[in-house]
Amino acid sequence: MTKLTTVYFCAKCQAQTSKWSGRCLECGAWGTLKEEQAFSQGDQKEKQDVPPGKPVSFSLDSTPPAVINSTKLPILDEVLGGGLVAGSVTLLAGEPGIGKSTLLAQVALALASSDGRVIYVTGEESPAQIRRRLERLVKIIPAGVEFLDQSDAAIVAKTIEIEKPTLFIIDSIQSLRTPGVSGEAGSVNQVKASAATVAQAAKSSGVPVLLIGQVTKDGDIAGPRVLEHLVDSVLFLEGDNQERYRILRVLKHRFGTTDEVSLMSMTEHGLETVLDPSSELLCDRPRGVPGSAVTCLMEGRRPMMLEIQALVSPAGYGTPARRATGVDSGRLGMLIAVLARRASISAVDKDVYANAAGGLNARDPSVDLGLATAIASAVKDSGLDPRLCLFGEVGLSGELRPVPLPELRMKEIKRLGFSQVVLPKKQGKNAPSGLEVREASTLREALQMAKII
Ligand code: TYD
Ligand code: MG
Repeated sequence: MTKLTTVYFCAKCQAQTSKWSGRCLECGAWGTLKEEQAFSQGDQKEKQDVPPGKPVSFSLDSTPPAVINSTKLPILDEVLGGGLVAGSVTLLAGEPGIGKSTLLAQVALALASSDGRVIYVTGEESPAQIRRRLERLVKIIPAGVEFLDQSDAAIVAKTIEIEKPTLFIIDSIQSLRTPGVSGEAGSVNQVKASAATVAQAAKSSGVPVLLIGQVTKDGDIAGPRVLEHLVDSVLFLEGDNQERYRILRVLKHRFGTTDEVSLMSMTEHGLETVLDPSSELLCDRPRGVPGSAVTCLMEGRRPMMLEIQALVSPAGYGTPARRATGVDSGRLGMLIAVLARRASISAVDKDVYANAAGGLNARDPSVDLGLATAIASAVKDSGLDPRLCLFGEVGLSGELRPVPLPELRMKEIKRLGFSQVVLPKKQGKNAPSGLEVREASTLREALQMAKII
């Protein structure tokens, strides 16, 4: 038998303990443990009476492939491998203001204008606000887009089962509350219980459900992280909400691959796919200006060209400033140190600003060489050849380390009209013809090849 017991959840890392303490033993945060009611399993004896399961050989498995229905919105179909599976639950997570509601409003409109019926649960905003967003996207809202102003998860689940629309959208899971479960709407226990209630209704009715999950600015994924295990697919919308570009990433996908990413731009009429990300990201780039270098990173299986900019200026009093936008600030500090110790280019006592153009998050370590070269170019006040691209990871000894998929990157570099590439040793094999390849084993050698030193 399952019974209710008191447990303590850390609001920061979601660790669970049976005893209260002032400090979370998992993440060390103070005063973050919150009391909640949870269901616990019954005694061992009961478990022993359960019959064993029957394993089936993969070679004999005859489960039919999942039925995938198009969302009629190409951006979303592309990352989901064709569309949504009947009865599946997909979580769309992202920071507030990034465009989650906009994306799902676009799906609702696209499906409804091809005769679908979509029910949109408006918990996060008022129905009037959602209507204003829809009116911003289309002149006339199709009759097939309906709203349900409801925060009771049990009523929402019942509506899914009885109404059986083409698609059910919940904006957001943090605004739902499950009766009989303790905690406020948005608490770990509530989010879990509401998602489980909704998922059960999706499975039994075959209606695909899209859930929106809010993520806080400092990376504390209070809701979505605990939801990952309860849903079939997790999509993540990221970017800088002051800038134009967004990346839609698939973090989990029970029915397809998780390598899919799509670059989108936020326009007057909602989110639009960027068809040729590399050329769009490079189109405004200044040529031959000190502090600018072009690199090629991988977003999933997709190579993407990106301009990295650096600015170096004499520091005032105190510790020199280090500002990184779109690149890792730890990496920035490390590369400044490596440049000074291994390549005799010192920016140690200077203010350094680095930026991945377009507001994208360039987390791939292969941008190291591009970033280090941009800093070196700024320090030397000398511009790079505009037809040069660089990629490679930089180690603490100043060595250049190999990165995955160099061939895909070189093809993209050639396609965008670049004529030279500097990359790590042994990575220049099978280069496309017409691309001059220079392999370097150290950062110093790479900078010599780029004519910075
Ligand atoms: P929103 O979808 O409300 O974000 P979220 O649901 O993730 O919190 O959208 C946020 C921003 O998008 C908002 O600043 C307005 C902007 N926006 C556009 O630029 N164009 C549009 O067509 C729409 C609908 C919104
Ligand atoms: Mg929203």
